[in-house]
Amino acid sequence: MIKALVLSGGKGTRLRPITHTGAKQLVPIANKPILFYVLENIINLGIKDIGVIIAPETGEAVKQALGNGERWKANITYILQPEPAGLAHAVKMAQDFLQDSPFLMYLGDNLIGTNLRHFYEQFLTYKPDAQILLKPVRNPQHFGVAEIDEQGQVKRLIEKPKEPPSNLALVGVYMFSPKIHEAIAEIKPSWRGELEITDAIQRLLDWKCAVLSDILDEWWLDTGKKDDLLEANTIVLDEWIKRNVQGEVINSNISGRVVLPAHSKVINSQIRGPVVIGEGVVIENSFIGPFTSIGHNSRILNSSLEHCVLLDGVEIINIERLEDGLIGRNTKVIKNSSLPKALKLMVGDDSIIEIP
Ligand code: TTP
Repeated sequence: MIKALVLSGGKGTRLRPITHTGAKQLVPIANKPILFYVLENIINLGIKDIGVIIAPETGEAVKQALGNGERWKANITYILQPEPAGLAHAVKMAQDFLQDSPFLMYLGDNLIGTNLRHFYEQFLTYKPDAQILLKPVRNPQHFGVAEIDEQGQVKRLIEKPKEPPSNLALVGVYMFSPKIHEAIAEIKPSWRGELEITDAIQRLLDWKCAVLSDILDEWWLDTGKKDDLLEANTIVLDEWIKRNVQGEVINSNISGRVVLPAHSKVINSQIRGPVVIGEGVVIENSFIGPFTSIGHNSRILNSSLEHCVLLDGVEIINIERLEDGLIGRNTKVIKNSSLPKALKLMVGDDSIIEIP
């Protein structure tokens, strides 16, 4: 029986301050946590036995969001990784769960624009010891890169090479036979102190084990940074959102693909899709432009925004134009014209405020 291992630990330093208080895998794209897209992709393959790696800091939040997997008719087993000591270390932590099953390993912050049917069936047909998913990229220096032959057999893997031998970057989805555990037992931490999965796969290559690859034709986004996250939101809104307006619309114009749930309200405003609005949201005297996601229980008043991701409980008041914003939970952005011309801020650690 093939199992799946989802990596939802790690530090998420690149998405601070959003990830100070939450797991980066739970950051919503089109109002749905990234991790849900990951699980749906796994369950679509018919894999029901899923291990989820969690970190001490964010593990509870991940558990709360996913529960025991019932809603997807799957079994979720949580595995605590005491520190983010590398992807191969995470596999080591999961050995009791994985036993001698072949498994799909999926990084919990990776979003891909397709199902994994072709990738999975190739693994079932050829039964290699490892299989990786590759995507041609413009800047391979920033990724793990693979060198492959004409048949797609992997020759060599290199982490962030200065002179990349190809433009094929490793996407965060892998398949392994139990042989990977032997390889992981042999590797040492890298210069950054992590047990690297690329080193373990390289070990399989040294042992002449079959390592196959498949090329991803669709988009792939590693949602680790703000701009990637906004881009992911844009693509998902663009490709997967259908119009569904159920909420109260008073003296307003809602055009295009807009999701407005029953308990949300739009008053004297204009909304131009694709836009997703959460539950309990009130939008008044405002313009919401394309590619915006608004989290639950948020309030937008006398403002105009476009290409933004607002998490839950955000208030935007009297803001003439907000663009490319990523706004964390329960944050208020308010322009108060009765105040003297000075900024009045209460902002958490690691925040970024850009003012013209
Ligand atoms: P990374 O993006 O490589 O690492 P990170 O989460 O620590 O992020 P940052 O660089 O912003 O600090 O991790 C890829 C995925 O794998 C991510 O979902 C976290 C997860 N992960 C683990 O579960 N355990 C680990 O030891 C590591 C390194 C990552």
